[in-house]
Amino acid sequence: MIVLGIETTCDETAAAVVERFEDGHGKILSNIVLSQVSEHAAFGGVVPEIAARAHVEVLDGIIAEALAQAGCGVGALDGIAAAAGPGLIGGVIVGLTTAKAIALVQRRPLIAINHLEAHALTARLTDATPFPYCLFLASGGHTQIVAVRGIGDYVRLGTTVDDALGEAFDKTAKLLGLGYPGGPLVEKEAARGDPTRFALPRPMHGRKDADFSLSGLKTALRLEAERIAPVSDQDVADLCASFQQAVVDVVLDRLRAGLRLFRAKYGAPTALVAAGGVAANHAIRKVLHRLAFEIGSVLVVPPLELCTDNGAMIAWAGCERLALGLTDTLDVAPRARWPLDEVAAAKGRLQRTAAYK
Ligand code: KG4
Ligand code: ZN
Repeated sequence: MIVLGIETTCDETAAAVVERFEDGHGKILSNIVLSQVSEHAAFGGVVPEIAARAHVEVLDGIIAEALAQAGCGVGALDGIAAAAGPGLIGGVIVGLTTAKAIALVQRRPLIAINHLEAHALTARLTDATPFPYCLFLASGGHTQIVAVRGIGDYVRLGTTVDDALGEAFDKTAKLLGLGYPGGPLVEKEAARGDPTRFALPRPMHGRKDADFSLSGLKTALRLEAERIAPVSDQDVADLCASFQQAVVDVVLDRLRAGLRLFRAKYGAPTALVAAGGVAANHAIRKVLHRLAFEIGSVLVVPPLELCTDNGAMIAWAGCERLALGLTDTLDVAPRARWPLDEVAAAKGRLQRTAAYK
């Protein structure tokens, strides 16, 4: 089974071709990602209208490149998958409409993928991780702890009530004049800073639920920076180190709570799986290793290019769904908001549709 995957929910225009074999394992035949980072850098974040226009300009070329690298014509595809949300709606429309056009012309099934579901299933492409596992998804737009129990069977155990983790790194970088995207820059500064110099809060610490809150931390950091202004190079490094240490402590505490909820409801997870750009952070990875060890499980961190937004994860989720006969009709709508928990409902609806035929 060969599926094309299209990803346009944020600032990456991506297309990939993935093959799934009878025994359930997958192989990436091509994976093309074009980042728009330089187009948004001047604004310190993603500008939706610029993103949507950039997707329109390059998507057809990226798809052609993905097919060429995979060495397969469009006729060889068994299905066309696209991220149908959640994300910036202009970009989602571009990707989903393109997928619909190809599906219509080629008379192949369309698979509308939830972007978060694609992140959640990547560990099965890279490591064939069996269900149920605990996903920690931390990117610029999302911070979630999810029990992944099966295809279309996801239970959100925790989420952020305000900013996403990556967003907190990006805002910290912006405040300190470091540039965008902020995560790698904050991590670099933190390496030469003193993590104990500033006493920053650890929001939600000790709570039974597994939710995150990061806006208070961000504000506390800003107040410290204002208090000592003008900031020297060493101040910037110390602020970054103190911020990163606070985030690390928060992740440890919140994930511990999430894993406790997981165990109580579903027993031991087969693995702790990381996804999203924040998984690139070495200090956070260290904490994830420690947590996996604590629960006697393994840590699965897909290679970074598959942790961040890409087309292969969409194509793979498409393979997994297509193998179960879960396809969509051409009137499926793009969605700016689409919680993972609702994906299961869609599965039920699709199965009912199939039963009517
Ligand atoms: O998954 P991703 O590439 O894109 C989405 O947001 O969907 O994640 C990007 C986010 C950005 O907020 C970036 O600052 C953060 O991941 N990030 C990091 C690091 N590398 C990227 N955060 C902390 N430390 C890093 N080394
Ligand atoms: Zn993502």
